[in-house]
Amino acid sequence: MQGNLIIQNAAELVTCGGFRAKQGKEMSELGIIADGTVVIRDGKITHVGPTSGVLSQLKASGGDLGRFETVDASDKAVLPGFVDSHTHLVFGGFRADEYAWRLKGDSYMDILERGGGILSTVRATRSAAREELVRSGLKRLDSMLAFGVTTVEAKSGYGLDRETEITQLAVMADLNRLHPLDVVPTFMGAHAVPPEFKGREDAYIDFVLAEVVPEVVSRKLAEFCDVFCEKKVFSVAQSRRLLTSAATSGLKAKLHADEIVQLGGAELAAEIGAVSADHLLHASDDGIRAMARVGVVATLLPATAFSLREPYARGRFMIDAGCAVALATDFNPGSCFCESIPLIAALAALYMNLTPAEIVTALTLNGAAALGRADRIGSLDPGKQGDVIILEHASHRFIPYHIGVSSVEKVIKNGNLVFDKDRGGQPRC
Ligand code: NIG
Ligand code: FE
Repeated sequence: MQGNLIIQNAAELVTCGGFRAKQGKEMSELGIIADGTVVIRDGKITHVGPTSGVLSQLKASGGDLGRFETVDASDKAVLPGFVDSHTHLVFGGFRADEYAWRLKGDSYMDILERGGGILSTVRATRSAAREELVRSGLKRLDSMLAFGVTTVEAKSGYGLDRETEITQLAVMADLNRLHPLDVVPTFMGAHAVPPEFKGREDAYIDFVLAEVVPEVVSRKLAEFCDVFCEKKVFSVAQSRRLLTSAATSGLKAKLHADEIVQLGGAELAAEIGAVSADHLLHASDDGIRAMARVGVVATLLPATAFSLREPYARGRFMIDAGCAVALATDFNPGSCFCESIPLIAALAALYMNLTPAEIVTALTLNGAAALGRADRIGSLDPGKQGDVIILEHASHRFIPYHIGVSSVEKVIKNGNLVFDKDRGGQPRC
């Protein structure tokens, strides 16, 4: 019965149907089927449609219904699993002390400049045992799974040396193997300038390209290359050099763009055809329009703006300008120690003026597109992975409405039940 499941009678089957990112107005199209059923066979979706039609089709085609487990989703909304397309989930130590300094008025960038912030997590991660990184990573994935996340991206960038960057990525491969969640690895060796290279950013980029990227690529440890393109970190020119060179080795480009100041990160993302540009709190109108034109996914991270007490990215403007917007947590020990999908949804609704339908698209199909996986996950379409969530309410509108609290009752991964609130947590298998 592994991976064979029928979820039937859903009050609202929110298909999010599609195989590429939805841009602008398309983000409102959820393809909702009333009284819907989804069939998963051998871990893949085979049928999606109104319950009566799907069940008679299955019987007529000689489908042996006894081979399937059945879940009744009457009075419930059923959606694709959430895709958290931007996190930094593998790290050592915590930064609760730094959070307290920020409450007293220290800025995030001041703390980084005096050797704290990301660099404090770099020290803790360099000295952490690999087993400890795996153990804490598994715990974090459990928490994400309970929020309905079925695929998560994870970035390195707390090593900033060859050995620890590789270890972080190897830990992600372990996590991917050991946990039901799919973990998509991103190499972010250019997350900050390590103390050994202070004031020599170009030399550090040279080092990353010559000493680390080749091993990452040859061992297939990452799919993407990301960079903190920011004033006093890596310039637009340095980011361009890193990302275009890494792309020739097969790593697709992502950027932390225009997070703290307007630097031209959005424009760079459009110029080089990055898969996504993330944060974008201060992105220019021209940069946003350029991203819409070439189809760079704008990944917005509202809990980071909330946690840093910065203005929110202009999500409404971006969608109206025709962008494909994704929403993600940015879970990390510094700027955003938060993996709560429902909080992200509420902030996007209240402070970015996104509608519940746009929020669902941003957390599913567009998140998948931000990971180059819109052909495989992010919607309930035949042929896609059987990654599904069942809410405890009849409408997707509860996702942003129940503020900070998860409405997810069950999580199905590749057709197997991996989390069930009714049974007090996850039957992880
Ligand atoms: O997305 N800004 C750069 N990187 C992360 C924060 C990482 C950290 O503070 O540890 C971000 O905000
Ligand atoms: Fe980030």
